[in-house]
Amino acid sequence: MGVEHRIERMTTIATSGAGEQAAEQVARAAREGLLSRPKRLPPWLFYDEAGSRLFERITELPEYYLTRTERGILRQFAGEIVARAADGARLRIVELGAGSADKTRLLLAAAVARQGTVVYEPVDVSASALQAARERIERELPGVSVAPRVADYMHGLALEPEQAGERRLVLYIGSSIGNFDPEDAARLLAGVRAGLAAGDALLLGVDLVKDESALLVAYDDAAGVTAAFNRNLLARLNRELGADFDVDSFAHRAVWNEAERRIEMHLESRAAQAVRLEALGLQVEFARGERIHTENSYKYRPGEAETMLQAAGFATAGSWTDERGWFEVCLGRVD
Ligand code: AVI
Repeated sequence: MGVEHRIERMTTIATSGAGEQAAEQVARAAREGLLSRPKRLPPWLFYDEAGSRLFERITELPEYYLTRTERGILRQFAGEIVARAADGARLRIVELGAGSADKTRLLLAAAVARQGTVVYEPVDVSASALQAARERIERELPGVSVAPRVADYMHGLALEPEQAGERRLVLYIGSSIGNFDPEDAARLLAGVRAGLAAGDALLLGVDLVKDESALLVAYDDAAGVTAAFNRNLLARLNRELGADFDVDSFAHRAVWNEAERRIEMHLESRAAQAVRLEALGLQVEFARGERIHTENSYKYRPGEAETMLQAAGFATAGSWTDERGWFEVCLGRVD
């Protein structure tokens, strides 16, 4: 599968409004993925309306430490991060994705405390997600003016020129980078770098390698929300492509791939079965135990985020972690 195809709609991950992917993209992804060996489906398919709601529930699960750990880091260090990024200038804050709710708010509030007002520029492919973010932020955070931009930042970052004396801080938080294979992650970061000017900065949130058992339960929680999130992908194909997946006949599997340092999610057929996808005129056979690979979530060793940023042309300007060393936010600056 070509890199372009793998990444083409990843920017909607966890942020955008549901159901905006063109039907034809869903059809193409399903056909290509289900005809490949091994079978696979791209993770952007998770985020229709139902999937986006399930993801919100995941972020609140006791086992899913990522969101609350990153939030804790930002709560503790937002003032320092903003001051370091501004380096004496006024900041504008750009976010890749239409806002990570309370985490973004911590940084915006720190910028308002420092400079009185701040322009916030969320970038997303979904106009409706941007509109929702705009209404929410302007209602809740006086001093923040929202300048949304509908764009697919995988293909570069075209922003308005800055005012004299201003710098941009781009947020790519929430471990979103972890859903990209290393080459795609490098390409994304280089594209962001190309859209920035000297003095601008990127704040990257990455999940760190830790005890396997903590990783596994974060992706296979006791309440079964992650399993439902994974299976929703098949339910989506039933809804949108007239498929007849018996969703419960696929088991959720979360696996730690030590060599690649990533959690993989799969859907495993509990029986030999055939599935019809009406809109594609396609019948797909599954052997008992055969899997569909649905997601990779890369985990990084300390220092790796800095190396990724440097490879993309950023100098490390700071990094912050939690007490357990489970998550890291790392600031790269364009020299
Ligand atoms: C959006 N992304 C950072 C999540 C992650 O942890 O990789 C998606 C997710 N998949 C299962 N649980 C959460």
